[in-house]
Order: sequence, then structure tokens, then C-alpha cells
Amino acid sequence: MASGSGSVGVGIVGCGNISGAYFRGLDRFDGLHIVGCTDLDRGLATAAGKRYSVPVFDSSEALAADPDVQILINLTPPLAHETVTRALIASDKSVFTEKPLTASFASAATLVDEARERGVLFGSAPDTFLGAAGQTARAAVDDGLIGDVIGATAFVTHSRAELWHPDPTFLFIRGGGPALDMGPYYVSALVNLLGPVASLYAAVRIGSTVRPVSTPGRRIESVDVAIPTHSGAVLTFASGAIATVQMSFDVWEHRLPFIELYGSKGTLSVPDPNDYDGAVSVRLNGESEWRELPPVIRGFTASVDTDQLPLRGPGVADLAHALAGEPLRVGADFALHVIEVLDHIANGTRDGAVALTTTTDRPAPAKETWTA
Ligand SMILES: NC(=O)c1ccc[n+]([C@@H]2O[C@H](COP(=O)([O-])OP(=O)(O)OC[C@H]3O[C@@H](n4cnc5c(N)ncnc54)[C@H](O)[C@@H]3O)[C@@H](O)[C@H]2O)c1
Repeated sequence: MASGSGSVGVGIVGCGNISGAYFRGLDRFDGLHIVGCTDLDRGLATAAGKRYSVPVFDSSEALAADPDVQILINLTPPLAHETVTRALIASDKSVFTEKPLTASFASAATLVDEARERGVLFGSAPDTFLGAAGQTARAAVDDGLIGDVIGATAFVTHSRAELWHPDPTFLFIRGGGPALDMGPYYVSALVNLLGPVASLYAAVRIGSTVRPVSTPGRRIESVDVAIPTHSGAVLTFASGAIATVQMSFDVWEHRLPFIELYGSKGTLSVPDPNDYDGAVSVRLNGESEWRELPPVIRGFTASVDTDQLPLRGPGVADLAHALAGEPLRVGADFALHVIEVLDHIANGTRDGAVALTTTTDRPAPAKETWTA
């Protein structure tokens, strides 16, 4: 991708599993170019630099100091997010981090304060709600297609990581679990559609205390589970809508939807919020069949990267546009509200319902900004 006048330079910190989806995905935006990448593991950074024809920097400090870099992207593991993001914010460049914002609401709130004090634009994944499915569902709600939204359901089910990941330990220790790993996609999608959560209650438990790993070529035989793996929650939105939410690594088989909204005029079915695209369907009261809604913007992930991960980038492009004065849709206030909700879902609310201490506006409807 070429660096042109007005093009925003980005630096990538962390060249692991998800990074290919960023290197290839960012290529789809005319207004972005990758200045360089870095990783504590020099071999990984070198391999990524060679594969994607990107300069490799010795450290995140060196990358942040490059005058062409305006946005730093944090693709390190969840438990490193707080330290890495803090250092990147201190460089006074804008920062976009992979999800979760950090491993706890308390640390995320501190970081958001630091970014605000320094006047740094700070955004976070997930940005999948900016894609065709999230925006089509949002337009349907905004147009009143299903009337007043009374209820919703959202279900995170088992990623089966013990069957395909060589070492899924990170999913069963602090920073992991279904709520922090997959939950950000679901709660971001719900908040985009319904607005902020006012209060919630959640019950949690550990399913199995030891998880056998059966992955061919596994690095470990089993994982000791240190955090709850099954949460059941009820979220009351400021709008009055009530969502029933289950986030679990103990649901191996099911026939559950991803997300559904139940309105006074009908039901909206929303596809996997872990992806940008997919069919949004509606069935209005009295209709005999489901109808697929025409997408309001073009799909983003016509292809996936070589590891079969959906390409990434809309959130980084959104941050770049925000540098030019447009609304920030993947902003820190939105992500902080989402992480407060998720922290409660992950840990449970022992004394009944809790009122959320944060709130957020719904992000502005998104525009299609990709070129391919
Ligand atoms: N892998 C996926 O399918 C996926 C999908 C969506 C989002 N994510 C998110 O992306 C992030 C990264 O996930 P991943 O699967 O690529 O992890 P990974 O472990 O494969 O890669 C993370 C990389 O960060 C590097 N790193 C750690 N600390 C660093 C530091 N201080 N400075 C520079 N580099 C550092 C590590 O050496 C490693 O190469 C996580 O937040 C995860 O939740 C992952």
C-alpha cells in the first residue's frame, strides 16, 4: 500500500496470530499505509516484515518515534494490553488496541483517563459492528422495522480451543474466559444496536476444573481452570430493553442463535458478531417466513487471510478519519462501557443487580470506507 498525501501511517506492535489479518486487511484502505512492525519475538517480526513487505523496527519505542506513524496498533495478548497501551499512549500517538481493552474494567478506566489527559485518540476492537451485518441491523432498528425493542438474546458458545489450539491456557486464566475473549463482539454489537446498559446481574461458575487438551501436536496435556467458564446474565438497557445473555466455554453442542432482538413488530436475527458480514433476517409479526434484509453497505471480508481469520481494518480506518475530525465510532468511552459490562459478566454480581458506572452514546452509523 502506498504512502500518499493525506495517507495516515500506522505501526503494528505484535506480529502473532491475528497480525496477518491486519497486514492484509489494512491494504484495503486508500487512506492508510503501514510504516512498520515490531514484536518482542524478533523472528516473528522479521517473518511478517518479509511476508508483507513492511519495515521491521527494533522496539515499539522506535516504531512510535517514527514521524510517519500516527496510529499505533496493539496486537499483543490481552494480559499485555495494559502495559503496552500505556507506553504507546505516552508517545502521544493515537492508539488502536485489539480486544479486550485490558483484562479488567479498573485498569481500562485508568488507561482511558491517561489517554484523555494526554489528548490522545484511543480506540479499540472489536470493530466488527462497523461491517455490513452490524450496520444493516442498526439501520433496521433505527428505521423502526421491528418496532420498540423489548428484549434480546446473545449466546457465546464454546470455541472448542482444547481441540485445535496447541496451548489454550490463556483462555482459562485471568484475561481469558468466554466473556473477555468472545464477549466483546456480542456486547459491542448489542450496545451499537440498543445503546448503553443501565444495570445487570450475572451468575458464574467453573464448568470443569481441568480441561484435557487433545490438539494434534499439543504443547500441553491439560489446563487447570482458574476463572469462571460459564456466565448467565440479564442486562437492562437504558432504553428499557432486557437482554438474556449466556457466555460459556461449557456449551459444546447447541441450537442457539448468535443475537436476536425481539420488538413490538417482529424479530431481528443478527449473524455472528465475530464477523463483519453475514445475513441479517427479519420476521415481522404475522409473516410466515424470515426475510433477509439487503445490506446497507458492501461486505468487507470477501476473503480471509491465510490463517482463515477475517481481514481487519475498519476500526483503524475509523480512527484515522477521526484524526481528520469525523466521529470516532470505536472510541474508548464505548469500549470502556463494554468492558465494564463484560467484567461483571465474567466475574458475576454476587449481591444482585449492579448499576453501571459508565455510559456511552451509540456510535454514529458507519460509512463504507474500504476499496476492495
Ligand atoms: N488470534 C485470533 O484469532 C484473534 C482474533 C481476534 C482478536 N484477537 C486478539 O488479538 C490480540 C493478539 O492475539 P494473537 O492471537 O495474535 O496473539 P499471539 O500470542 O499470537 O501474538 C501476540 C504477539 O505479541 C507479541 N508481544 C507480546 N508482548 C509484546 C510487547 N510488549 N511488545 C511487542 N510485542 C509483544 C508476542 O511476542 C506475540 O508474537 C489479542 O488481544 C486477541 O484477543 C486474536
